[in-house]
Amino acid sequence: MVVDFGAQYAQLIARRVREAKVYSEIVPHTMPVADMLAKDPAAIILSGGPSSVYADGAPSVDPALFTAGVPVMGICYGFQVMAQALGGEVARTGLSEFGGTAVDVCATGVLLAGTPVRQSAWMSHGDAVHRAPQGFEVLATTTGAPVAAFEDRGRRLFGVQWHPEVRHSEHGQTVLEHFLYDGAGLAPEWTPGNVIADQVAAIKAQVGDARVICALSGGVDSAVAAALVQKAVGDQLTCVHVDHGLMREGEVEQIERDFVAATGVRLIVRDEKERFLTALAGVTDPETKRKIIGREFIRVFEDAQRDIVAEAGAHGEEVRFLVQGTLYPDVVESGGGEGAANIKSHHNVGGLPDDLTFELVEPLRTLFKDEVRAVGRELGVPEEIVSRQPFPGPGLGIRIIGEVTAHNLDILRRADAVAREELTKAGLDGEIWQCPVVLLADVRSVGVQGDGRTYGHPVVLRPVSSEDAMTADWTRLPYDVLATISTRITNEVREINRVVLDVTSKPPATIEWE
Ligand code: XMP
Repeated sequence: MVVDFGAQYAQLIARRVREAKVYSEIVPHTMPVADMLAKDPAAIILSGGPSSVYADGAPSVDPALFTAGVPVMGICYGFQVMAQALGGEVARTGLSEFGGTAVDVCATGVLLAGTPVRQSAWMSHGDAVHRAPQGFEVLATTTGAPVAAFEDRGRRLFGVQWHPEVRHSEHGQTVLEHFLYDGAGLAPEWTPGNVIADQVAAIKAQVGDARVICALSGGVDSAVAAALVQKAVGDQLTCVHVDHGLMREGEVEQIERDFVAATGVRLIVRDEKERFLTALAGVTDPETKRKIIGREFIRVFEDAQRDIVAEAGAHGEEVRFLVQGTLYPDVVESGGGEGAANIKSHHNVGGLPDDLTFELVEPLRTLFKDEVRAVGRELGVPEEIVSRQPFPGPGLGIRIIGEVTAHNLDILRRADAVAREELTKAGLDGEIWQCPVVLLADVRSVGVQGDGRTYGHPVVLRPVSSEDAMTADWTRLPYDVLATISTRITNEVREINRVVLDVTSKPPATIEWE
């Protein structure tokens, strides 16, 4: 259990614990200690936080947490909270430490066993522990922190002033693992295989004999969620993929053929290309496009749902459940609420109706994105889907500046396929968050090809690096990769005679152009 003191690091701690193959959950520090203990944690980590322990109203923790017999490790602010609660002394030293800091190890103990006597660790603090509580051994010091790490092996209480969860801390992961394995006696047993076994059992218990439906967008989350539910309840699940004609080259086929072959999912593909093209005819305003795509998506999904309900009803079965690919960061950010709820307006596939009254099946709500990918791989979901970069629900419809027509979609699809292929070939997929290719259908420029004048369209390459899409920077792609993409696109896509690169961060721009 990671107790969050308002740190930007709590999610990172939870992830690192999971990297050590130990399951972790985040709870707010405002949760009463009795409730924390009622969750029966095998170990507790107190995160860092922005406050000073002796400031008015500073978040603290009931000392009962330290006498419950559960191993506890404090990190940064959590370390100071622990020191103060147990009778140590925390004070402002006047010497803040931020960033990489030299740590001098004076006793390795459990936490620092096998690590060097001098090591660099990531610090971010203004206060420091001056005196460890009684019974604790001091393990390390820094210039600004007389007590930079301590432990009481008998009571199984541990703490460090630095941030072991940050990659810049040289032996950070080792320190966390020493706490988990040696301090708390946990075993590295939390693996994708175990996650699957647990989720399959949970889904079976939740769903019983009822029927389940799932909107499959082609993205990673809905695909892995569907694969898990399929493994649990087989043909009780029906997936619907709305083919709005705005997908990239090969994506619908990947779902229709490869995903079904790998998972055995029962899939209905609704070919609605004409319907979306008709609804989008003559429209160039981005918001209008988005609304039309969202609205049409809902209509098609409702039709599909009605058919499935009618068919199930004919067999005397109920369709009570809807699969959602909600991930753990969404759960944490929305306050960690639990249990099934009616669907709110949706973000993933263009928006599902507000008045759907299904109960939700959310098998990914304890997982981070990279864990979802690991589970997907273990379930045999095709690699092209598992490693897919984010793609917006409205698809290529919002990557054509101008009217969305079959002709423009065809041009963009071919240019996009070239860019994706070359980026993959250059091994850059891991570095790039996503690389939209945008067709400026409303813009034409003069070119020369084969001794003749051309008057074609530009495409924009928009490679971005990002952690979470909230902010982003443009990716500095190697010039030779850009050159290859440019040459190939202009050679292979006749309508395009110019390739330009978007070098704007977010903000001020957004990632997508519309
Ligand atoms: P922006 O353009 O706002 O995009 O910087 C941030 C991230 O969200 C994706 N995106 C969408 N995803 N439905 C989605 O599922 C949408 O309507 C949508 N619009 C943008 C975008 O690709 C980027 O990853």
